[in-house]
Amino acid sequence: MLELLELVQRKNWEALILNIGIDKISFFTSDLYLPMDDLAKARKEDPNKYLIGIGQSKQAVIRNSQDAVTLAANAAWQILDEKERQSIDLILFGTESGVDNSKSAAVYLQSLLGINAQASGVELKQACFGLTAGIQLAMGHIALHPKSRVLLVGADIARYGIKTAGEPTQGGGAVAMIMSANPRILKINPESAHLTKDIMDFWRPLYRSEALVDGHYSSQEFIDFFQSTFQQYSAKTGQGLNDFAALIFHLPYTKMGLKALRSVLEEAPDDQIAEGLLARFEDSRQLNREVGNLYTGSLYLSLLSLLQARSLREGDQIGLFSYGSGAEGEFYTGEVVQGYERMLDTSVSEQLRQRKPVSVTEYEEIYRSFMAAQPSDFVTDYQNDPARFALKGQKDQQRQYVERKD
Ligand code: COA
Repeated sequence: MLELLELVQRKNWEALILNIGIDKISFFTSDLYLPMDDLAKARKEDPNKYLIGIGQSKQAVIRNSQDAVTLAANAAWQILDEKERQSIDLILFGTESGVDNSKSAAVYLQSLLGINAQASGVELKQACFGLTAGIQLAMGHIALHPKSRVLLVGADIARYGIKTAGEPTQGGGAVAMIMSANPRILKINPESAHLTKDIMDFWRPLYRSEALVDGHYSSQEFIDFFQSTFQQYSAKTGQGLNDFAALIFHLPYTKMGLKALRSVLEEAPDDQIAEGLLARFEDSRQLNREVGNLYTGSLYLSLLSLLQARSLREGDQIGLFSYGSGAEGEFYTGEVVQGYERMLDTSVSEQLRQRKPVSVTEYEEIYRSFMAAQPSDFVTDYQNDPARFALKGQKDQQRQYVERKD
């Protein structure tokens, strides 16, 4: 492989563009979770509806001392060292849980993480699609500035409301990534397929912290968007199901991805290809099953889950489907880089195992304890939060963050 500088000097842009992608990836969620069978019993549902029908085993319970900014900081901190803090030149923050109508969450993040002041940053919003929009922007930015290192984060708290149909599909957390040339995890192919349609399947008016959702309509649109963008991609590139080692999905709940995958498997050239894609999909939903919906971060948690299973080999092609209600969808692809396993944090599964379960009553109390959109001062429960970064509260209408240093 040609070295980066040589490519730039020789103005070999095509080779450079084919060698941009994900160099580092990390994940953070709450130290608390709600077992889905407990929630099912409390809601007088058969536990198998949640465990199998929806495909969720546990749901992250986010403390009132975490918001999109702190979730992102807790995820990104894990992949930063001093050199990286100085190298990052762009921060792209995908979220639909923004903390200010004006100021970008990327600026709070830059400050909390001590990233150099010459880096620029913006917040990107299109429901769960925001982080994927960031991937495409980072691709273009790195192609123009080949030495660039871009920090991308997707951070959200998925709240639907107590005793609503969406309740078993709640969750929260953040995924952070560094994108660069010569990536060590996944090279991203420049071709992709998009679809945008103005529909009301899921939205959140400015006065609400809980989503309004027409869940069955949204699930159908998700499948239609996937089929449409996958066909569009196949028509552009000539690639079909047999070209992919895995197809992974935005996972608002893990059954959603399975339904979308099954909707195209009839076109698989043989049973072995279909079975291979189903097996890799199982790998890709393990972490999401334990955490619930992350909104913008969900597709990338699924990517991490797939990579962690270590079932992929160098050169394997992965198809990624991103969906943000409202709605925008994109299908794009990446190629697994040799030695990707060495770049993965081996402590993710252990972190999840160390979480503490809460009862349904405790979950409801935490849910109701969040700071409302209000002018008055507020203090969160940050002293009980073991996370490195936490929201202390609000003073004089300004958010107060704290960092617990080692
Ligand atoms: N054992 C196994 N499966 C069971 C079951 C049982 N005892 N009882 C029900 N199920 C299955 C149903 O057959 C159904 O499966 P299917 O979708 O494959 O048909 C699934 O469980 C869900 O049941 P359903 O009756 O459709 O649940 P619901 O009306 O409560 O709604 C959602 C489920 C997912 C639509 C709802 O939770 C929701 O709206 N969530 C938010 C969705 C979202 O995030 N949208 C944004 C998309 S990006």
